[in-house]
Amino acid sequence: MYRWLQGFLFGMEPESAHYLTLNVSRALLKIPGMSRLWALLWPKVSDPWDGMGLAWPNRLGLAAGFDKDAKYLQVWKALGFGFVEVGTLTPRPQPGNPKPRLFRLVTQQALLNRLGFNNGGVEAAIPRLRQRPKGLVVGANIGKNKDTPNQDAAKDYVTCVEVLHPWVDYFTINLSSPNTPGLRDLQEAGFLDSLLEAIDRLPCQQQLRRPVWVKLAPDLAPEDWQDLWPVFAKHRIQGLVLTNTTIDRGVLGGQATEVASLGAGGLSGAPLGSKSLALLESMKAYGTAYGFCPLLVSVGGVMSGRDAAQRLAAGAVLVQVYTGLVYRGPALVEECVTAMRS
Ligand SMILES: Cc1cc2nc3c(=O)[nH]c(=O)nc-3n(C[C@H](O)[C@H](O)[C@H](O)COP(=O)(O)O)c2cc1C
Repeated sequence: MYRWLQGFLFGMEPESAHYLTLNVSRALLKIPGMSRLWALLWPKVSDPWDGMGLAWPNRLGLAAGFDKDAKYLQVWKALGFGFVEVGTLTPRPQPGNPKPRLFRLVTQQALLNRLGFNNGGVEAAIPRLRQRPKGLVVGANIGKNKDTPNQDAAKDYVTCVEVLHPWVDYFTINLSSPNTPGLRDLQEAGFLDSLLEAIDRLPCQQQLRRPVWVKLAPDLAPEDWQDLWPVFAKHRIQGLVLTNTTIDRGVLGGQATEVASLGAGGLSGAPLGSKSLALLESMKAYGTAYGFCPLLVSVGGVMSGRDAAQRLAAGAVLVQVYTGLVYRGPALVEECVTAMRS
């Protein structure tokens, strides 16, 4: 059925197709009896896991960026995800970059995006997070506003934690989007140390410590991410999300020139898979040797159950998908959860 639907959706401009699908799914779920029919179409696989003081229905999550403003939480639960990372949310609303800013690379099963943290801001998300469905872990991926200079960036992240703290289960500090100028420069030990210090000192975190994860780019050189390790250890970071999209066009092989005409942006989907997996393996090995390894959350190019199981075998404890859902549809969820079942 998704194949037929995909033919229709892929005829539309990608962002319009995205929101049409989500709005229709959310409306359908409100029709009496529809959740039961939905459950027959997309049976939920249970694979409970306890970790970080949370009960995860299963180990598959929706990656950040798909539901930036926490508008479709019921849909993710109905599709069988164990967790959802909403955001990236910034303190103030912002429109993101001018359109067009999202492109399908169908033959490569990839996407190119330069959305630039379009979102309604943290405050606007609260009423929806208050009504979040039970039985779904919800994390917030947080970032800085585009017009906040890097020297003030820590304040933006701290604001997001303070405002969202009562309503989400964990935080992911996003330092790795390629679409906010200068953001990736914040993947640096001095900045991260002072940011984590400020978050640790927050009264809300001292009363109830929400797990803090850091999301990294796949393009970091080993010496750069190794420099961050003492900071991860000092602050007992609980998760590393590996990885965001890549700016490396080399992953496209021969098709790189054709894609150059689309302009700047981050690549996701199948071509990112081996890069994301390689970083996961390197960090697992490094963390084990170092004597401190945060829980590893693998994302990037997971297009099948086989890919998801491979990420667990390589040391991840949780897996997220984004582009795979666009190309494979809802069946990917059951396939991944089943493949990862212990
Ligand atoms: C259209 C689009 C928007 C995204 N927006 C965000 C975002 O706001 N914050 C973030 O941390 N990652 C964002 N990502 C990155 C994804 O969360 C994920 O890390 C990346 O796409 C690799 O996973 P995939 O290959 O399964 O897509 C976005 C990805 C796409 C394709």
